[in-house]
Amino acid sequence: MKLLEERILQEGIVLGQDILKVDGFINHQVDIELMEALGQDMAEHFKGQGITKVFTIESSGIAPALFTARYLGVPMVILKKQISKNLQTEVWQTEVASYTKDVSYELTLAKNYISDTDHILIIDDFLANGEAATGAVRLIRKAHATIAGVGILIEKAFQPGRTKLESQGITVYAQASIRAFEDGRAVF
Ligand code: G4P
Repeated sequence: MKLLEERILQEGIVLGQDILKVDGFINHQVDIELMEALGQDMAEHFKGQGITKVFTIESSGIAPALFTARYLGVPMVILKKQISKNLQTEVWQTEVASYTKDVSYELTLAKNYISDTDHILIIDDFLANGEAATGAVRLIRKAHATIAGVGILIEKAFQPGRTKLESQGITVYAQASIRAFEDGRAVF
């Protein structure tokens, strides 16, 4: 998507070999108009597939997922990285390891927000190693729901995330796909 690629080129900061900082419009300060345009594009891409819910993983996926769900006309559900003490209900859980941050967490979903009749679209900001998205896939499959696909804002195509998901039969749509970083710039 040209709009996102241009913004990455204008404001993204490349750190080291493989990290793109987008704190000014996605990860810290959030550009709401951009999020709406991305959400609308996601909804357009996945419409007509009988999607019943949009799932995302806290925290940076929430903004685009919200607009995607709005344009699809379905609820949005946030997969939690930590169990809330107030979550007094039965949950589905799966462990996710994050390579970038060198931590692992229990991805958690209350059982009353998913059923075996749900057809779910997963939205997240980055696809790198694909651990977070694969965790979401595991969780949804535990609940015997089905998956329409994974919608990603920024894919780092030189990392194994897409291959990991596609090898499990999951369709991936990325709005910006970065082939490499060259001279401190993203190459799409
Ligand atoms: P994975 O989610 O694809 O498996 O990748 P990984 O374990 O490597 O990523 C861990 C976290 O780092 C994820 O965010 C992911 O979105 C983020 N990340 C990966 N590569 C980049 C990058 O180049 N730039 C930025 N800005 N983030 C990257 P998270 O821990 O789920 O955090 P958040 O959603 O709360 O922001």
